[in-house]
This record gives sequence, C-alpha cells and structure tokens, in this order.
Amino acid sequence: MKAAVIGTGGWGKNHLRVFNELGILSCFAEIDEPKRKLYSSKYGVKGYANIDDMLKSGKPDMVSICTPTVTHFELAKKTMHAGVATLVEKPLTYSSKDGEALVKLATEKKVPLTVGFIERFNPAISELKKIIQGKMLGEPLLLEFHRENRWAGSIKDVGVVLDTSVHDIDTARWLFDTEPTIVFARTGKVISQHEDFAAIILGFDGQKTAFLVSNWVTPKRVRELVAVCTSGIVTADYITQEIRLDDSDGTQIPRRQTQEPLMIELKSFMEAVEQKKPPLVSGKDGVNTTKIAEAALASSEKGVPIYLNL
Ligand SMILES: NC(=O)c1ccc[n+]([C@@H]2O[C@H](COP(=O)([O-])OP(=O)(O)OC[C@H]3O[C@@H](n4cnc5c(N)ncnc54)[C@H](O)[C@@H]3O)[C@@H](O)[C@H]2O)c1
Repeated sequence: MKAAVIGTGGWGKNHLRVFNELGILSCFAEIDEPKRKLYSSKYGVKGYANIDDMLKSGKPDMVSICTPTVTHFELAKKTMHAGVATLVEKPLTYSSKDGEALVKLATEKKVPLTVGFIERFNPAISELKKIIQGKMLGEPLLLEFHRENRWAGSIKDVGVVLDTSVHDIDTARWLFDTEPTIVFARTGKVISQHEDFAAIILGFDGQKTAFLVSNWVTPKRVRELVAVCTSGIVTADYITQEIRLDDSDGTQIPRRQTQEPLMIELKSFMEAVEQKKPPLVSGKDGVNTTKIAEAALASSEKGVPIYLNL
C-alpha cells in the first residue's frame, strides 16, 4: 500500500506523520515550497508541487486530501479519476451538490471514498456507540454536544458550521443511526468573517433530538457529549477520551488507554482499501452531513425550521 497526502498544513502534517508511522507514506503534494522541503527531508519522500505530477509519477494507492474546504471538490475529482482510494478531510465539499457529484464519480469509477469524520474513531465515541447498540442504558433520546475553542484565524473559507459543527452532525447521525427530519439553528458572528458560533437542534424520528453548541469565540477548549438514554446518562469527553455512565446503580468510569483517533481512522481506511470492504464513513455520510449543515445555515438566515427528507 502506498499512501499520499495532499496539503501538509496544520492538519495534513499529522496525516504525513501517521502514514509514516504505518510505514506506507510514499509521497505528498504541497504548493508551499518551504513545507515541501521540510517534509521531504523529514520523511525522505518526494514532495510534488502539483497533484497531477504526484498522481502520475508517485502512483499512490490511497490519498488524504487535507487542503482548505473550497478546494476539496476539484482535487478529489482528480484523485478519483486516477483511480486512487480517497479520504477527503471534513467537510467532504463546500456544497452538497458537489459532494453528490463525487459520490456518483466514486460509484462509476469503483473508487473507495471516505470523509475525515475523525470523531467516529475517538475511543470514547466508539465505546458510546457500543453502549447504544447493546442497549446497556436503553434507547438514546437526547444528545448534547459542546465543541468550543477560540478561532485560530487559519480557517478563512468557511464558518463554524461547515468547519466544526459537521463533526457533531455526523456523530449524531451515527449514534442515532438515522437522518434528522428537521433542523433549526441560530448562528452569529463576532470575531471572524463567517458565522463563529452556532446552536443547532436536529430532530429525528422517534422523539430523538440532538442539540449542538459550536463556538469559535471563547478561549477554553471544550469537546463534550452528553447522551441521555431511557435508563441512564453517558458523558463523554473527546479530549481525555473518558466516559462516565450514570444510572440507578450509581456511576461507572471504565478505564482504557487513550489512543490517537487519527491513527485508528487512517488504519481503518487502509484496511478497508486492502480488504475491499466499505469504509466506516461513506461518501453519502459526507453529503448528508453537508446537507444538514446547509439546512442549519438556511434556518439561521431565515429564522425558520428546515424540513429534510434525506
Ligand atoms: N478531522 C479533523 O479533526 C480536522 C482538523 C483540522 C482540519 N481539518 C480539515 O483539514 C483540511 C485542511 O485544514 P488545515 O487546518 O490543515 O488547513 P491549512 O490551511 O493549515 O493547510 C492547507 C494546506 O494545503 C496546501 N494546499 C492548498 N491547496 C493545495 C493544492 N492544490 N495542492 C497541494 N497543497 C495545497 C496549503 O499550502 C496548506 O499547506 C480542511 O478541510 C479542514 O477542515 C480536519
């Protein structure tokens, strides 16, 4: 297996490191020359200035696209036309229409396509998924997400909803194992050029509801999820990877070793490609999550709920 990375900025450099640790890093593409020199010498692999040359000469089997959101569509079209299994960092595309075109292309070309919804690979969330699947605390009713951190100033092409809330939108869909039918949101802007805080309510069938708070305004880094189920509550901290279960028997805090979610995510995609099985996160997951994010932005703009039929 030969893996490549396109875009080696703040996040792509982690893909480089993890592919290198997995022993499969073969090349990368980066338009910025200093970064190209730095990572070529650090990892001893060729860094290309453009992706056409990388695809032609490097011939990778799989690739991570870690460039700004607005570039994902054009770059992923190229990697899929070249028949390379493609992980596109979240969100899949800037618009859901482009995402649908990528999914169609992936099907036509029979090329594996996945999206970097890394939280599905956070051990705290995988464990919560198992608790829900095993009905250990009954049925999940309410999911409350808090994802907060001061805007670092590096993301300029999208606001907090497409950049940040999409993690929790995907996790809510995954944990409830269904799509929302109604979206209501309020967003606002105080420090960046796009919306930088948002409160989103997603309504699912069977009275299930997710409440998402995302913010780029306050300095404290918070990434938490509280899952209210019919017989107890699970509190998950994405950063410490700790989960706490509270039910009528008391409190349990299962002990586990922390693991790097990106390592689990990239290994899982590599194995899916090698074993020709579908990746955990599908292209359709990426499209539907973008559609829900678009509905949240439209709801906030119009001040009304948006009904969805995904
Ligand atoms: N899954 C996660 O937890 C997570 C975390 C951070 C960022 N991301 C995603 O990763 C992507 C990149 O974010 P970032 O913060 O690293 O951005 P960044 O701006 O720090 O880095 C982007 C890099 O891509 C390079 N680039 C741009 N166009 C290119 C092209 N055509 N060919 C080759 N290189 C190109 C730039 O020179 C830059 O080095 C975004 O989609 C973001 O949403 C995901």
